[in-house]
Amino acid sequence: MTTITGKDRQTKPHRLDVERVRNDFPILQQRVYGRPLVYLDNAATAQKPQCVVDVIGEYYACDNANIHRGVHTLSVRATNSFEKARGKVQGFLRAARPEEIVFTRGATEAINLVACTYGRANIRKGDEILISAMEHHSNIVPWQMLCQETGAVLRVAPMNEAGEFLFENYQKLLTPRTRLVGMTHVSNALGTIIPVRAIIEEAHRRGAIVLVDGAQAVPHLKVDVVDLDCDFYVFSGHKLYGPTGIGVLYAKYDLLKKMPPYQGGGDMIRSVTFEKTTYNEVPYRFEAGTPNIAGAIGLGAAIDYLEGVGMDKIAAYEADLLDYATEKLTAIPGLRILGTAREKVSVISFVLEGVHPHDIGHILDQKGIAIRTGHHCAQPVMDFYGVPASARASLGMYNTRREIDALVEGLREVTEIFR
Ligand code: ALA
Repeated sequence: MTTITGKDRQTKPHRLDVERVRNDFPILQQRVYGRPLVYLDNAATAQKPQCVVDVIGEYYACDNANIHRGVHTLSVRATNSFEKARGKVQGFLRAARPEEIVFTRGATEAINLVACTYGRANIRKGDEILISAMEHHSNIVPWQMLCQETGAVLRVAPMNEAGEFLFENYQKLLTPRTRLVGMTHVSNALGTIIPVRAIIEEAHRRGAIVLVDGAQAVPHLKVDVVDLDCDFYVFSGHKLYGPTGIGVLYAKYDLLKKMPPYQGGGDMIRSVTFEKTTYNEVPYRFEAGTPNIAGAIGLGAAIDYLEGVGMDKIAAYEADLLDYATEKLTAIPGLRILGTAREKVSVISFVLEGVHPHDIGHILDQKGIAIRTGHHCAQPVMDFYGVPASARASLGMYNTRREIDALVEGLREVTEIFR
């Protein structure tokens, strides 16, 4: 088992002005139970900078109208803002063209979209879908449902005790029947960064296509879908400091063009008669009904904000914070970190001997500290470690060493209570 402490990891010096960043987040300025809020549940959802809050308010106050339909001024403005947001996502993912960006409700819907369209059209009885042992339920269940429907088989590439992806085992699990690899980029429960570039290369060599679940990666890492050469990449806006209810499916243009539609309704059609319907161009073919216009615009503002701060700076700052937190938490007697991969983002899952994670969560809450407890929508990961649940502190770009100290002090008090 490769257990490493914060000291072992090589981190670069960061240049992020965290106090300045914190000032942009109004929600962080409050007290909970009389203590300054320490928000360490960023993997569940991240807080929103003022510019995101403002852009949504401004949209509803000044520009609200339906898109792609009206000739009137407000509709044109709303359409332009919505399409501009698509362009911002394209730039953020370094995708080749805006048509490759489909807006969805979130990463979950994006995966379901691929399973229901590409999957139903291409996966047959006896085919194999390969995922990792670290997947969130949203990258397990849609494939299980597709397998039930088609008679395909779900295979799982294992991990080791440290929560690291076992590449050689993965290679062995790739067979001529593997049609699709569904792989998280970063484990939401453990923080492990999965070597998706090599995984994709290997899958392509064997003729399989790859969907990467980037929900937990995009807030922490610079992503380049062309460089990765992934076929699909999905993420949610709300974990990226943007609004809830908006997400993204990136798909290679040629693949997307060949895919049958997802939901039927307005905007996804070219012409409709009672006898026959023809479909719109991509990406609109996959965006039936009135979309979350304000959400897309808010996501665009979040991307502008992150790019203003700089993804490299964020990654270096969070790596430093992760090292600090890992070292401090490891020193607490009875505390065991689940997921000690060498390559990981600032997510720390842990269990405390003799204390149920929910008790940890409740006691910390009384001290103004917000963490997540439970199975983190990754029950197979909990099963792997033989625990029903864990406590998880997930750090974002606005968290500080001072807040880690508060967490550590809170946990020491928890251990005192249960001694
Ligand atoms: N998927 C989110 C999490 O990991 C909700 O907490």
